[in-house]
Amino acid sequence: MKLKSLIFAALLAGSYQAMAQEISLIPQPEEMKETTGKKFVFKSKMKVAADTYPGDSIEWVFENFEKEITPATGIRFKNSSPKKADICLVLNKKLGNEAYTLNITDRNITIEAARPAGFHYALTTLKQLMPAEVFSATAVKSITEWSVPLVSITDEPEFGWRGFMLDEGRHFFGKEVVKQVIDMMALYKMNRFHWHLTEDQGWRIEIKKYPKLTETGAWRNSKGLGWGDHKPDGQHYGGFYSQDDIREIVKYAQERFIEIVPEIDIPGHSQAAVASYPELLACDPENKHEVWLWQGVSTDVINVAKPEAVQFAKDVIDEISDLFPFGYIHLGGDECPTTKWEQNDACKKLLSEIGSENFRDLQIHFYKQLQDHIAGKESSKQKRLIFWNEVLHGNTAPLGTDITIMAWVGANAAAKDAAQRGMETILSPQIPYYINRKQSNLPTEPMSQGNGSETVEAVYAYQPMNGVPENLQSKYKGVQANFWTEWVCEADTVEYLMLPRLAAVAEAGWTPQAKRNYTDFENRLQSQQKIYELKDWCYGKHVFQKK
Ligand code: ACM
Repeated sequence: MKLKSLIFAALLAGSYQAMAQEISLIPQPEEMKETTGKKFVFKSKMKVAADTYPGDSIEWVFENFEKEITPATGIRFKNSSPKKADICLVLNKKLGNEAYTLNITDRNITIEAARPAGFHYALTTLKQLMPAEVFSATAVKSITEWSVPLVSITDEPEFGWRGFMLDEGRHFFGKEVVKQVIDMMALYKMNRFHWHLTEDQGWRIEIKKYPKLTETGAWRNSKGLGWGDHKPDGQHYGGFYSQDDIREIVKYAQERFIEIVPEIDIPGHSQAAVASYPELLACDPENKHEVWLWQGVSTDVINVAKPEAVQFAKDVIDEISDLFPFGYIHLGGDECPTTKWEQNDACKKLLSEIGSENFRDLQIHFYKQLQDHIAGKESSKQKRLIFWNEVLHGNTAPLGTDITIMAWVGANAAAKDAAQRGMETILSPQIPYYINRKQSNLPTEPMSQGNGSETVEAVYAYQPMNGVPENLQSKYKGVQANFWTEWVCEADTVEYLMLPRLAAVAEAGWTPQAKRNYTDFENRLQSQQKIYELKDWCYGKHVFQKK
């Protein structure tokens, strides 16, 4: 090669390196200052100094980071004194629980945080600052020098709740898919995986005391769900998570600072449970009950006036509380028809005993007994209950204000109602945060709900706190995207519909509204395509096509 072409090639390589080093963080940090023209270069052996911390130690957080980046980079880390360290992890008790600072000079990297979570998020940012190839699961030969641009970041999430819900009641995807969903959430610093584990169409978690829930309730005779003229297909279909599977997934989520919020949707959306134990749970045990083969809202709800049904719910809660070492249990509460209760003598009698004429109050009475049961547990097993916003149609006074309302239908008004009643609330508006809905109107879009108007831009445009009165703002705990699977039978479709819209919801949860801007987000989003490709995730490719 002639000298001129050599210089040109070097320039090209340089500009490629500059492009690769472009800063494209999602979610956008609260504050970031850049020093252009210089970089921090990783050595193959790096020295790390971490302050000590009890419990989930800072060293453990760093080891998890090392496990993630070493396969691609080959970089190894060893402990050293702070003076000699290339990377220093320093406790700073003044910062918030999930906050961090990340300061990168050409000599070293300093991270400060008050809690392991803050260090974890700082390291997540550091990984995003590296060339995208860091996300490769195998050694990357094309990069000989791993570096990051010089930045100084001060960051803290806007909301403590940055959630994603997956419905596995309608369709069951299995452990590896759940771990992949957790990986997607972790990439974007989301911290609550809401796992919708029970439905009319399937019960997906082993409960030792009630084995028929999974022997019977986890299986049905149709993979696709019937809808209108679209009949059930007769295929034997189903699956469930053993308690060992649950423990494995809990550990996987914990390593990524994601709490799992298990949802046992009772007393509505419970036909699979009713079909498993009609003698304990059905309003009409004399009739035939089967795991539902159709979409929609089943009227075959649990008979809340039966002491056996209340005991069943308490027993399930006991096993769930032991399996999930986190602070919340979601008991559903959405779309619970009262038609069978209205025809049932025991329900009518109970309604009159509690002095109400609103059958919805039977549901609240049921929950009250479960809440009291949980309150009787030792302090480490206490759980806060979450409900969908339809419970607000009943008299919620017996439940007090220590519950959380997840607002989906008429979300803004429902959240405000909950906050005015003194309850905490989470915004998961059906439009546009149900990211199982079609994400475009392209003919290639998979069968799902909606007409394609919930584009990534529409999802991004939702402003959680818009119009929320100042005196209620402290009740708003965060945002959540939901993924229902009535139409979605395959994991590839789940991935496709999630990406890149999950990133848009994550940014609403993390980045202050004043710093959110779609054009800027769209530019930063471009860097994500390479990550999705390296991870082999399906995603909305149309979003990345040049306009
Ligand atoms: C819901 O979408 N039924 C919560």
